[in-house]
Amino acid sequence: MWTRPNPVTEQRNAMNTLELLEISPVIPVIVIDDIATAVDLARALVAGQVRALEVTLRSPAALDAIRAIHDQVPDAVVGVGTVRTPAQLDAALRAGARFGVSPGLTEEVARAAATSGVPFLPGVATASEAMRAAELGFGALKLFPAEAVGGAALLKSWFGPLPDLMFCPTGGIHAGNMAAYLALPNVRCVGGSWLTPHAAVRDHDWGAVTALAAQAVELARTAAGKPLA
Ligand code: 3PG
Repeated sequence: MWTRPNPVTEQRNAMNTLELLEISPVIPVIVIDDIATAVDLARALVAGQVRALEVTLRSPAALDAIRAIHDQVPDAVVGVGTVRTPAQLDAALRAGARFGVSPGLTEEVARAAATSGVPFLPGVATASEAMRAAELGFGALKLFPAEAVGGAALLKSWFGPLPDLMFCPTGGIHAGNMAAYLALPNVRCVGGSWLTPHAAVRDHDWGAVTALAAQAVELARTAAGKPLA
């Protein structure tokens, strides 16, 4: 039987979910194909002032990458993405992940996330899924895939009936459309893979990664305070 997460336990967390969303305006969605790139990639993002890093469980190197970033890049806050099972979350937390992200939400993952003691962003794509996630104790959600399911217009519409829920939209977001999301009252940060282009990582072009991160932070600064689109 599901029980709501214990707020007392939640208060003991080193970082709560809203604090996670405030770390950087963008959480890069990272796929590490070559473990040798993990630390340099993380350092490049941190140099651009992007510190919350989601390493997805989409490659065999993912857990080793989380461990390496956790151990060697103290200014990064490394988390795990593409979490689909409690076992995956457990393995990532043992490797040093400090938050988790999922493309969706199952009762099993919800239970594991609630007892893990780390911030967790479950993925939702409909109002009913958002309401169910809220029932299960999650107040900050990943809208996924954001552009495909309605984008900033959808989140603007949800703010009326679901004003207490906060979103980190991900999927199809880039430098050209991130500001439209960040201008919304129910968005604190966005997620996306555009800060870590495959070619730049392959070529170890860390300057390019830092420049993309810095550009995103600057765009977010400019977007801050702008009226609702
Ligand atoms: C995700 O896994 O969260 C998304 O696939 C990232 O989407 P993007 O590649 O469009 O940024």
